[in-house]
Amino acid sequence: MQPIHLVATGQKILKIEDLSVCRSGKTVIKDINLNISRGEFVGVVGPNGSGKSTLLLAIVGALKLNSGSIRIYGHPPSSSQLMGRIGWVSQAASHLPKHVRISVRELVSLGTLSAKTAFCLTDQERVSKAIQMVGLEDVQDVDVSRLSGGQRQRAVIARALASESEFILLDEPLVGIDRDSRNSLLKLLDNLCHEENKTILMVSHDLSAIRQTAHRMIFLEETIRFDGPTDHFPNLDVLAELRGINPASSCIEADSMEE
Ligand SMILES: Nc1ncnc2c1ncn2[C@@H]1O[C@H](COP(=O)(O)OP(=O)(O)O)[C@@H](O)[C@H]1O
Ligand SMILES: [Mg+2]
Repeated sequence: MQPIHLVATGQKILKIEDLSVCRSGKTVIKDINLNISRGEFVGVVGPNGSGKSTLLLAIVGALKLNSGSIRIYGHPPSSSQLMGRIGWVSQAASHLPKHVRISVRELVSLGTLSAKTAFCLTDQERVSKAIQMVGLEDVQDVDVSRLSGGQRQRAVIARALASESEFILLDEPLVGIDRDSRNSLLKLLDNLCHEENKTILMVSHDLSAIRQTAHRMIFLEETIRFDGPTDHFPNLDVLAELRGINPASSCIEADSMEE
């Protein structure tokens, strides 16, 4: 069965053509074709080990491509033209080292370093704005290690915002945070899209959470098996068919694809 592709139009931020990536000699993702336009909020779901993190790492230039190409604003991921324009928020954000003492404001300030080398007054303003955007003004002088998981994720998002990143990639940012924090984090990301015109590509195993917020969904399992508006995201039976397996034996783990 052919994968379903319903592609959005608008100014292209990301263009991936015929991408394949091998890790330790094994093909992890292949035949990936993907365009993302400015202001889109794209959610990526798929079973564990299906290549979601690999796709994000390839986009930020951390992995060698076996074939195909990736262009961000028309530049390859390693281009200096992209410095400070891409924000990266990983699940590891909730595991920031506890022994390193760093305040929220200090952490967010580090985001401005990716844009250039010297810290200046306008950076202070950007840091304040980023902290305000994620709602952490009250704890800006508190050590990051003393924050809740949700607050820590916000701090790391603020660090990406301080660099004025226009394209923000998030890998499992909802892990380890409670439901209320999750909902407010999703609202924050939604606002960043609608009010700040940021473009968001977010991987999450939490299908119901991502469905609430993303405009567009991608189902990845080695290759893209569905790409389209969230409203069109297939039910589990159709997904099983797209994956080439019998619906009765559908093995999208309950914990990795919560409905
Ligand atoms: N550093 C690595 N070296 C070799 N294989 C890897 C490495 N990292 C991940 N993999 C393999 O690549 C596949 C996809 O991993 P990953 O992109 O992390 O999946 P996901 O994020 O969807 O869970 C898995 O089979 C995983 O074992
Ligand atoms: Mg992953």
